[in-house]
Amino acid sequence: MRNAYGDFSKYYDYLGWNKFARSAAIRIKSFIKLRGVKPKSILDFACGTGELKKAMGKSNIRYVGVDVSAGMLKVARGKCPGAKFIRDDAASVRLKEKFDMVLFLFDSANHLNSLTHLKKMFKNARRHLSDDGTFIFDILTDIGLERWEHIDIRRTDKYTVISNGYYYPDDLSADIFIEAFVKKGNKYDRVYQKIVERTYPPADIFNALTEAGFLKVLVSSYNPDEELEEASRLWFVCG
Ligand SMILES: C[S@@+](CC[C@H](N)C(=O)[O-])C[C@H]1O[C@@H](n2cnc3c(N)ncnc32)[C@H](O)[C@@H]1O
Repeated sequence: MRNAYGDFSKYYDYLGWNKFARSAAIRIKSFIKLRGVKPKSILDFACGTGELKKAMGKSNIRYVGVDVSAGMLKVARGKCPGAKFIRDDAASVRLKEKFDMVLFLFDSANHLNSLTHLKKMFKNARRHLSDDGTFIFDILTDIGLERWEHIDIRRTDKYTVISNGYYYPDDLSADIFIEAFVKKGNKYDRVYQKIVERTYPPADIFNALTEAGFLKVLVSSYNPDEELEEASRLWFVCG
């Protein structure tokens, strides 16, 4: 499977990849507060290590996480004992309930390898959304994926991470090869992860959302310092 998060899962949080979910949780909590409506349930598609659930803190909101990676779900189950996690594809899983909020965060939309798969996922998000529910997702744009074209070495006293990325403008896709050496006493544990992502022109994303039945679509730049037209990551709120 493309992007199967295997051994990398156990170090995902440790290497700081859980930071996005934490910042997204702050946004989502502000959104809930500003809107003045309390969701009773959240469906977190591509939930990864369940960091979003943890970062949302204690609440009465029913949470269900879905992810294709057994490794990521193992970490999630260890971190969030009371929550429900299901191993399945976000585009095709069928749950018997509807949710007030459906999420698909941190490049998860970029992980789908075709517009057809993305459309299927949007339809599935709509299918699982209650009448007044909100679907929130982010996606790296071509500007965001272009930044993958680099080599980076990050070294701390706990680990060294080497990232080697390539961007392919013709099909708006990128690969990144991540090699991490995590200190274990006098030795290092080596984990390796290849990630393949792609993006889609915003017009295609809007059309796909409309086709899926979303009537209201709000888009903003995830990074407030970037203008919408030059955003590296878009944040969509749909209902
Ligand atoms: C970069 S991680 C993001 C995880 C989590 N949402 C977060 O914010 O940390 C992308 C996740 O998408 C999952 N994934 C990729 N394709 C998927 C699919 N078709 N259905 C469900 N999960 C998927 C991967 O297993 C991985 O856990």
